[in-house]
Amino acid sequence: MNDVEGTIARIAAADDLPALDVVRVEALGKSGWVTGLLKTLGGMTPEERQLRGPEFQRVRARLTDAIAQRREQLEAAELERKLATERIDLSLPAPEHSRGTVHPISQVMEELAEIFADLGFAVAEGPEIESDWYNFTALNFPPGHPARAMHDTFYLQRTDADGLPYVLRTHTSPVQIRAMQERGAPLRVIAPGRVYRSDSDATHTPMFHQIEGLVIDRAIHLGHLKWTLETFLKAFFERDDIAIRLRPSYFPFTEPSAEVDVGWSLEKGRRVVGGQQGWMEVLGSGMVHPKVIAAAGLDPDQWQGFAFGTGVDRLAMLKYGMDDLRAFFDGDIRWLKHYGFSALAVPTLSMGVGA
Ligand code: DAH
Repeated sequence: MNDVEGTIARIAAADDLPALDVVRVEALGKSGWVTGLLKTLGGMTPEERQLRGPEFQRVRARLTDAIAQRREQLEAAELERKLATERIDLSLPAPEHSRGTVHPISQVMEELAEIFADLGFAVAEGPEIESDWYNFTALNFPPGHPARAMHDTFYLQRTDADGLPYVLRTHTSPVQIRAMQERGAPLRVIAPGRVYRSDSDATHTPMFHQIEGLVIDRAIHLGHLKWTLETFLKAFFERDDIAIRLRPSYFPFTEPSAEVDVGWSLEKGRRVVGGQQGWMEVLGSGMVHPKVIAAAGLDPDQWQGFAFGTGVDRLAMLKYGMDDLRAFFDGDIRWLKHYGFSALAVPTLSMGVGA
């Protein structure tokens, strides 16, 4: 027991953590002397044990406390030392890190949101796993309607309350219904997102991106649609010489329906959007069918509107000059470095995009 004061003195004298640990092991470790003392209790008579037990425990507690206290002091001193000696030189050049880029699809979606926000459109969203009703029926494709066959639909095994299988949405048009139900009228929304069709070649991938536009208000007519699309395309392609033409077409959810062509011209051997040397189709559109407005719970005698939809990937290819859609989804780092955007290239109206 004479060792108690000596050990306390050694604890106080330990000048770093490893030295403190040596003292701790000698006293309290598995073969330490305090541990040894505690082991002798087993061989004592009950009377002796009653006397010595508490005494040994007090020794152990004193030493444990002293060690903990010293450890705290040493740790605090170590921190002080580090704070006093370690410095970060902020003037040093940052190490080279490989930088990621923003995918052209994300960039184009941001551009579209920016352009349409300027025209008073909010962004709406819907699920990628959609019920048959939202993807088709509410959009005036009743079960058995021939237009359903035009979408190479992926069906899920799970069925809904009508006993029909859920689908991976084949277009962003179901968001029209959801937006009308959730937000009511009047309404101006765009809905960008992923869509799925069972189709794959140089210009088709099973997953691709669309953007939907919907305006619902009183006394909306085709003139509003045409102005909006022209304004949007001029802002998106950042050119004033954008020409469009509307061709009669058919979609179940619009009446009348129009396909929109944009004029192109040859520049340095490449087709670019602008001018009128030729035409290419870029959008589907039309006046929202009264049945669609009614399916979404609004009164078609009070509310009319127009809608449009187009492929985001296609818009990106036309604007930034890529020619193989599949490369968008390969994740090839060389492609991403070449076509990707800096995270700081945020599309803004003042930087060019905008209506
Ligand atoms: N949903 C159509 C498709 O995927 C595109 C479309 C056409 C959307 C006309 C519309 C529209 O909103 O009015 O082929």
